[in-house]
Amino acid sequence: MKGLEDITLNAAKFYKRKRRNNWRLNYHLEAPFGLVNDPNGLAQYKGKYYIFFQWNPFRCEHKFKHWGLFTTEDFINYSYPKAVLAPTNRYDKNGVYSGSGYAMEDRLELLYTGNVKNKYGKREAYQCRAICDEYGNVEKKGIVVGKIPKGYTAYFRDPNIFERNGKYYFMIGAQTKDLKGRALLYSSENFEKWNYEGEIKTSYDNFGYIWECPALLNIEGKDVLIFSPQGLEREEFRYQNIYQAGYIVGELNFDTLEFKHGEFKELDFGTDFYAPQSFKDEKGRVIMFGWMGLPEEEQYHPTVNKGWVHCLTMPRELKLINGKLIQKPLIEMKELRKDKIESLEKVEIVSWKSDNVMENSYELVLDVEKYESSLFEIKLALGEIEYASLKIDFTKNYGVFDNSAMAKGLKSFRKFKLNNLKDKIKVHMFMDKSAVEIFLNDGETVVSSRIYPKEGSNGLEIISYEGKLKIDKLDIWSLGGFKFNE
Ligand code: FRU
Repeated sequence: MKGLEDITLNAAKFYKRKRRNNWRLNYHLEAPFGLVNDPNGLAQYKGKYYIFFQWNPFRCEHKFKHWGLFTTEDFINYSYPKAVLAPTNRYDKNGVYSGSGYAMEDRLELLYTGNVKNKYGKREAYQCRAICDEYGNVEKKGIVVGKIPKGYTAYFRDPNIFERNGKYYFMIGAQTKDLKGRALLYSSENFEKWNYEGEIKTSYDNFGYIWECPALLNIEGKDVLIFSPQGLEREEFRYQNIYQAGYIVGELNFDTLEFKHGEFKELDFGTDFYAPQSFKDEKGRVIMFGWMGLPEEEQYHPTVNKGWVHCLTMPRELKLINGKLIQKPLIEMKELRKDKIESLEKVEIVSWKSDNVMENSYELVLDVEKYESSLFEIKLALGEIEYASLKIDFTKNYGVFDNSAMAKGLKSFRKFKLNNLKDKIKVHMFMDKSAVEIFLNDGETVVSSRIYPKEGSNGLEIISYEGKLKIDKLDIWSLGGFKFNE
């Protein structure tokens, strides 16, 4: 196995070369080679943002999980990715799995799961500590929780640190022996010794067979438990992907561990979103990255043949409004705007096509009114033989993201409800080569998907069905990319 330094050097070579490829991303974090999954260890430490991620630098398979690291001060200029944790110890030999970070005065504390398959092929899980310094050097400190609490299987992973009332805690994903997903809580005074507090008692007794990446946030005085359950049944408007990622909002009693909460809500309705992680920055913003991918779906991504797969979402700011998480692209993303290539105001259309989108790297802001139309469609990545589509149905109050007319990649159809449409909708869309993120109605509903357009499939068209649609405002900017430096 290649060592961390070799991987880091090879990554740097990749960034020094001029990259030109249809599907390589401009402003989404991706790996130069191998497979990327969950964002890990998110934190701001000494003014710098640390974005670690799950990385198999060798192959496009869920094996050999390392931690990679990007750092940035402004979410535009990034360091080259560094490989910082490798699965080389007996307690993490089958994967340095997901975990989190917590910035202290003099160090960045990290916790992760050491995934081990023992000699009988049985899974073991160890919660391990590591420390990162201000130069991004990471040092392993070994196991801090070696035992799985009674009654749970070895799907015991993804410790997520937070602080409450002067004490440190981590939430961790678990599975009961009768195969039900759970989140467990640990506490500590010092990051070295962790005490098992118990299981979080939610009203979701039977809600998937495992909960991955649980994390407790405090937003506007409310407790928000974000987690990624596996095993929910697909419904017409919900749970359409193989696995889900969402949250419950309420109040956690730290003495009894009872969590009074509302209904589970999904964070994203596109084809590619899982295992998000969030942190609070020094400005008090709650910032989230998700993995723009899903486990067991690599076969749908044609980049696998080119030796790389998946990326992270753009950074999003989370706000809690009326019990609902609202997601907006981080304000820094505006710095990527180059030229305003389209600008319309108060026009009625049956169909409209852009002549100015030359590359799949743009941001679109569209405010429309139903007017006479019952349904409208935005066709993107439009080429001679293909397109992806977002449809908004004003009469039935739902939206659809449809990949099925794309030549390559997953062919899918994702349907989601839109509340309070009131005959108007705001669409804020970021198209980045092979990734699209759509924020509807100021971030109330988000749809993130990978699409793999052919060379030249970068058309954009808006079509209204059964009458005219009124465009109150349409702006499109071409976007530049993130910059990477040593
Ligand atoms: C989520 C997950 C985590 C695990 C990691 C391994 O995508 O399965 O539960 O720690 O990926 O890469």
